[in-house]
Amino acid sequence: MTQTPSRRTVLRCTGAGAVALCTGCGGGGDDGSSASPGQELARTGDIPIAGGKVLADEKIVVTQPKKGEFKAFSAVCTHQGCIVSDVRDGTIDCACHGSRFAAADGSVVRGPATKPLPEKRITVEGNSVRLA
Ligand code: FES
Repeated sequence: MTQTPSRRTVLRCTGAGAVALCTGCGGGGDDGSSASPGQELARTGDIPIAGGKVLADEKIVVTQPKKGEFKAFSAVCTHQGCIVSDVRDGTIDCACHGSRFAAADGSVVRGPATKPLPEKRITVEGNSVRLA
């Protein structure tokens, strides 16, 4: 299946500063988030084990694949750029076309997406999950 970049991606990748902005181009996704380093994303108690929480405004999904192990990924589906909808049974699910990504590492579990969700660096301080 051939993917074509969205108009926004094409514009972003052909404009000034394209070199710095194009590292994630080509899959049609936009993994930019509005969160700032150090920003609290969630409380640890709000993230279910084997599940997670989608932060649509920040475009980040926080997961807890195993008890006490937290991960964060871009919430922008690498298929066509929808915000993923849910995390359950160990996968991050996109309702647009049914792609699923592993909550542990963002890898593709089921297409049509072919690229993993980019991981976001986080720190856990006490009960707070923060963007690194
Ligand atoms: S945009 Fe997510 S599966 Fe198509």
